Amino acid sequence: MLKGKRILLGITGSIAAYKTAYLIRMLRKEEAEIKVIMTKDAAHFISALTVSTLAGTQVLSQLYEEEGWANHAVLGRWADLMVIAPATCNTISKLANGQCDNLLTAVYLSSACPVMVAPAMDEDMWLHPATQRNVEMLKTDRVTLLGVNVGELASGLSGSGRMKEPEEIVEAIIGFFKRSKRLSGKKVLITAGPTIEPIDPVRYISNHSSGKMGVALARAASTMGAEVYLVMGPANIMVPPEAHVINVQTAADMYAEVMKKSGAMDYIIMAAAVADYTPEMVGSDKIKKKDTEWEIKLKPTQDILAELGKRKKENQVLVGFALETKNEKEYALAKLRDKKADFIILNSLREKGAGFQTDTNKVYIFGRDGSEREFPLQTKEMTAIGILNYLTDRL
Ligand code: CTP
Repeated sequence: MLKGKRILLGITGSIAAYKTAYLIRMLRKEEAEIKVIMTKDAAHFISALTVSTLAGTQVLSQLYEEEGWANHAVLGRWADLMVIAPATCNTISKLANGQCDNLLTAVYLSSACPVMVAPAMDEDMWLHPATQRNVEMLKTDRVTLLGVNVGELASGLSGSGRMKEPEEIVEAIIGFFKRSKRLSGKKVLITAGPTIEPIDPVRYISNHSSGKMGVALARAASTMGAEVYLVMGPANIMVPPEAHVINVQTAADMYAEVMKKSGAMDYIIMAAAVADYTPEMVGSDKIKKKDTEWEIKLKPTQDILAELGKRKKENQVLVGFALETKNEKEYALAKLRDKKADFIILNSLREKGAGFQTDTNKVYIFGRDGSEREFPLQTKEMTAIGILNYLTDRL
């Protein structure tokens, strides 16, 4: 059931670490590819030799070795899912607070993949408000928390705090991958990047859009099993290899390509920063400099999203973006209503780390049904996964 899935298992220092021997065997039986990171304390409870023998791969544990350093960014990008089991209250606290003092926490902070955590600790520690606060923080950061079992604990006491059994963890992992294919069989059209509106063969009008948010959405939709069509303005960015990419230049080109495809789409997400105006006249030769002022007359472009709203088919989901610098919510809700979208994703340029050119984003989603959700500041990749999960959960 997990053939080809790349799982990065993090083991921390709890007595439940011995159970990871069973967990690894089960994951291998399901044909998952595994890499393992152990913290220093985990080695008190299970030997690296046992783990590496069962996993069929060398165990990683140090950020720095004599011969070099473990590339935490590469590890985080290799995995389809990072599973931390058992996760001690200490590690949970570090993850929640963004601390980074060992290989496991460094990989967590640089991971582009979803993360699942199976806590293990004594009941008092589990129920302590500090731990519960950290757990809530992790949930906000979109970590999947597995909860704990009730039973005998290492302290000799009995109560809640036992790690989920390896069978339960494997079931959760399989369930996770099943759910993560939630867009399978769906056709998704995403627009990305700026458009450029030529003035003459040399000059043009454009905007600062990098295309990163649209491309992150295309990548996430593809990972979730969708057939993705990416209609993209000029942007210097790697596109997901599985997507059908249609390159365009102007708002008029984008309009034409989107309309060609829109009828067959289940989801349309307009992440592109489409020019609202285009020069009325385009010089066929370079317009020469004069000593006088130069006025360029602009005419409005067609509003692609508004047109899609008019043509929207039953069961089609239409999502727009709203990029604002003031009166954010009011303007976003007006766009939701006027363009007849099902959802509007608000980006405010006033939020630090959000908007054009950055690798992070902070968005709010407003639904036509009055629903509303604030997302934390996070990478555009995680924002994209969050947006698609949210949309599919609500439908
Ligand atoms: N949009 C579009 N076609 C246009 C302009 C915008 O499809 N000609 C889409 C964008 O892709 C986005 C949404 O409309 O999904 C809102 O874009 P935004 O630039 O925030 O707002 P505008 O509608 O252009 O309005 P304003 O510039 O007044 O904020």
